[in-house]
Formats: sequence, C-alpha cells, structure tokens
Amino acid sequence: MELGTERIKSLFMLDSNITCLNHGSFGACPKEVFSSLVKWQETLEKNPVKHLAFDVFKYLEKSREALSLYVKCYKDDLAFFPNPSTALNTVLRSLDLQKGDEILTTDHEYGAMDRAWRFLCKKTGSIYINQSISLPLNSREQFLNEFKKGITKKTKVIFLSHITSPTALIFPVKEICDIARERNIITIIDGAHAPAQLDLDILDINPDFYCGACHKWMCSPKGVAFLYVKREFQAQIEPLVISWGYESDNPSHSQFLDYLQWQGTYDMSAYLAIPDTIDFLKKNNWDVVTQECHKLNIWAKDKILSEMGMDPLCSDLFLGQMSSFYFKDPMNDQSQIDFFDKYQTQVLFTLWNNRSLFRISIQAYNNKQDIYRLIEALKDYQKQARV
Ligand SMILES: Cc1ncc(COP(=O)(O)O)c(C=O)c1O
Repeated sequence: MELGTERIKSLFMLDSNITCLNHGSFGACPKEVFSSLVKWQETLEKNPVKHLAFDVFKYLEKSREALSLYVKCYKDDLAFFPNPSTALNTVLRSLDLQKGDEILTTDHEYGAMDRAWRFLCKKTGSIYINQSISLPLNSREQFLNEFKKGITKKTKVIFLSHITSPTALIFPVKEICDIARERNIITIIDGAHAPAQLDLDILDINPDFYCGACHKWMCSPKGVAFLYVKREFQAQIEPLVISWGYESDNPSHSQFLDYLQWQGTYDMSAYLAIPDTIDFLKKNNWDVVTQECHKLNIWAKDKILSEMGMDPLCSDLFLGQMSSFYFKDPMNDQSQIDFFDKYQTQVLFTLWNNRSLFRISIQAYNNKQDIYRLIEALKDYQKQARV
C-alpha cells in the first residue's frame, strides 16, 4: 500500500494546493463519508418530526453498536458527544471531589483539559497535579517510575492522555489503569487521538472512563466523539444539559443513555454516519494504511531530526502517526498564519513547558514529498528569521 498516491488523495476533500501535515488537529473527511453525513441530513429534513422525535434513537443505537465493535466495549456503555471537551467535562462535573483530593496527571496534557480541571479544582478545593514526565522519553519504565512518584494517599483520580497532543507520545495507559485499580483510584483516559491511530481495545485497557474522538483519525464528519463509562460509574453521571432524559416519561433500560442522548434539538447526522465511516475504513484496509503511516512517520521523524540538527523527544516505541520536535523559533498566531500562507504547508506549532514545538501528522494522503517540502519550508523560515 503506497501512501499519498493520487488515488488515495482523491478519496479526500482536502485542497490539493495545501500540504496538510496536521491531520491530528481536526482530521479530514473522505468524500464518501461526507456523503453519508449529507444523506442523514437529508433524511432529517425530509421528515424532521419523525426523525428527531422517534427514529433517531434507533439509528443512534446502530451507530453505538458499530462504534462499540470498533473500539471494543459494550454498545450501551458509550454515548456520543460533539467533541472530547464536552464528553470529558461531563465526567469532571459528575465526580464527587472533596477539598484536598488529588487528581494526578502529567505535564503533557491538552491545554483545554488542564483548564477544565483547574476550574473544577478552584470550585472544590481539590488539587490538580501535573507530574513531570521528562524528555527524552526512552522507556516505559522511565514513564512508570516518574508518574508513580506522583501517587499519594490522597490521589483520587488519574487523568491521562492515551496519545498526548503537544508531544505526540503514546502513554502506557493499560499499565496505569492496572496500578490505579490496585489502589482504588478512578481512571479517566483522554483518548482523543487514539481511535484508528491505535487498535483500540477499551475493555482490555479497563479504564473507568475513556473518551475518544472519531473526527480525528477515524476520519468521520466533524463533531463526533464518544464517552465510555464503566457500568459501576454510570449512575453517577450527570449530563451538562438537563433535558427530557431526566425524570424521563418513557425511560429506557439505561439512565446513562437517557440522560446523555437528548441534549435539546440538534443535528446528530454526524453521529449517524459512524457505521459508514467504519465501512470506509474497512473497505480501504485502514489497518494496513495505519501501519504504513506509522512507518512513514518514523522515516519522517528521522529525516527531520537529521536535516534540522534536532534532538529527539522520545524513542520510536512511543510514536504512532504523529511526531513532535523542538523548534528554535517561538510561533505566535500571526507567525503561524504567515508560515501557512507562505509555504502552504500545515503542521501544529505549539508551546509546551515554555518550549516551542511543532508536530507533524501522517495520514493516508501524505507521502515523502510532503516531508521534503516541510523541511525546505522550515529551513527557509529559520533563515528569514535570522536575517
Ligand atoms: C489529547 C486531547 N484531548 C482533548 C482534545 C479536545 O478536543 P476538542 O477541543 O475538540 O474538544 C484534544 C484535541 O485535539 C486532544 O488532542
């Protein structure tokens, strides 16, 4: 399977003038999957009352079923959300945190989630601890030793990215969930980047809560994320929006689903496109595509490091389809826009622990030419910055 061929590129809707090496931020939707979204929107508009008042729940069940088989859990243990922030905020706001309780995480987490936790800690008097995981990260033992130093008698929750956003590291979440379970600590895994980048098996990881995005690496239409909640925690979940599912006139077998599946009127077509999204991935041998993308990512990482004279952030063992790099020049919003406009090449520029980083993402539509183009752009940018 050769990545980035005209055939594969033509499956997607991306502007062919742009070198997109930032699939990780917002994904990219194939034409066929986008057509499924439009098909569902047409179904809705042909008969809004029948669709939204009755049929949508039956269709949602089909979508949950397809997704649960894909990420390996039971269909009634997951609910759809428009994005990981909404899903994870639902969990955070449902926890019974007391003054002095500790939430242990790392210093590699997604900024929006750090903010959500700090907000909650201000309200509850609990303490958010960003345990330092030092770079370069060379072994699982290094991760486990450094992370475990943060566990105390007061640790109530462990919150961990499955794949980190700024540094693009795959964390050993299964081992951490095992350690947490022995100590009666709640585990919340932020797997925004995991579905379709990793062969996800939620039951095997065995977290208490797991959130994933479908519009990133699964390439679904925008606005699809999911939350898995272990049965014993479902009764404590409170929806962010109280609606008809609370004190339902017509309760289903699951309060968890009743509370979460109706959040007022909105278009759930993107959720309903999930079975077609998964069909697309299967039909196009996405397990092979993922392996090839991983290989290209490792090649690209080595090439960028040697061409740019940079130090690695980690050993290959922690990498999937993304890699991050130290970058000498801090990028503000305007310099990012200027970079994209000038070179028509997109990567994620970010700031992590006061260091400037950039992150590449490799998807089916990328090839080695994209990496050569990026290296040329980065070199030219740095040369101009020094003039
Ligand atoms: C690790 C991680 N968690 C959570 C999110 C939240 O995504 P959103 O802002 O779409 O809710 C992202 C988004 O990129 C992410 O990378």
